[in-house]
Amino acid sequence: MPISKTITQSALSAMTAYWQEASQNPAKAEGHLAGVGAVAALETKLKAHYGKAYALCVSNATMGLFAVAVALNLKGVEFVTTPYTYGASLAGFLWQENRPIFSELELQTLTLNPESVRQQITPNTKAILAVDILGNPCDTIALRSIADEYGLWYIADAAQSLGSYRQGMPGSKLADAVVVSFTVGKSVFAGEGGAILTDSAELYQKLVWLTQHPHRQKRDVGLCLTNEFALNARIHPLAAIIANATFEASLQQLRQEQDWYFQAIAVLNQTGLTESIEFQRDEIVPSFFRFCAAWRKEKQERELLAQLRGRGFNFQLQPLPLQFIPAQSAFQAQYAHLFPLNQDGGIETNVLAPQQLWGAQSYFCLNTTRLSKNCW
Ligand SMILES: Cc1ncc(COP(=O)(O)O)c(C=O)c1O
Repeated sequence: MPISKTITQSALSAMTAYWQEASQNPAKAEGHLAGVGAVAALETKLKAHYGKAYALCVSNATMGLFAVAVALNLKGVEFVTTPYTYGASLAGFLWQENRPIFSELELQTLTLNPESVRQQITPNTKAILAVDILGNPCDTIALRSIADEYGLWYIADAAQSLGSYRQGMPGSKLADAVVVSFTVGKSVFAGEGGAILTDSAELYQKLVWLTQHPHRQKRDVGLCLTNEFALNARIHPLAAIIANATFEASLQQLRQEQDWYFQAIAVLNQTGLTESIEFQRDEIVPSFFRFCAAWRKEKQERELLAQLRGRGFNFQLQPLPLQFIPAQSAFQAQYAHLFPLNQDGGIETNVLAPQQLWGAQSYFCLNTTRLSKNCW
């Protein structure tokens, strides 16, 4: 289902109002450089949602993650992360020549398995980069505790998981920096855009200094020495306006979709054809960016679809999206030098192939056109 007419109408009205004003009044338009207006309003909503002290809107999540790596001075170090994600999760960290050490995954959520993370930590490890992939929130309590135990930064790519919860907390809440995205298919869609949430005043100020216009640096951080050499990673004003105008309604729509998915999960579990999904028991409420399951025994696609359809749930089955990061040619072409080479000239990562990692589990994706998230 496309985004609702009401949400679309709020976005259009807010954009029109902004443009009418900004096109007539350049001083008003300049406010965007200082991060006032819709940017500040959106940041307030994000802070309230996550219960974090600081929020900074950025041009997109990829730039947000890059800015966090730079601000935390993560350069030429090791970080523990997931092999199962979209490459943009790692792009900024790799750009800084940091070496990913891949962890194993929780079988239910396909996110970092905290025990495996612990085993991958070496004296060179400086950070954990967790990803709420498919909109499944990571085990933020366990990851926070490991990060504290080893003195590591815990950074979360929550691009897909705004509106998700785990153990009653917004997805990845306990990370030192949580990065969200407003690009296509995300819980709040603004065309482009993203934001970084943190509780650290120091990190926030560094991020403002590195990514925002001097007007905002002065207004927000009170700097007398401003940085004209910052990378411009500001959010586009229209993206901020759309995200701000549609924030609550988008999350409300998501809540309805989450209810619908939980009903679908109950039916799926009753079929006995797939591994039981125990999100309710485990207090996991994904944002359902993608809905995946694993066959219990052999594939029985027709039987499964028929049973679901009989109970009012129309799905199409598709292969699990995404290719393991270390197996991607573009990753190998650019970042092989971060790894030792094996005898065949390939890169030696610690990560197992998906089949080994996931054992007998054979995952697939259940897609539906009923809901808003049907594009990657
Ligand atoms: C898991 C994940 N991380 C990062 C990104 C990058 O987000 P953005 O498009 O806002 O740069 C995406 C985009 O789809 C994503 O799915």
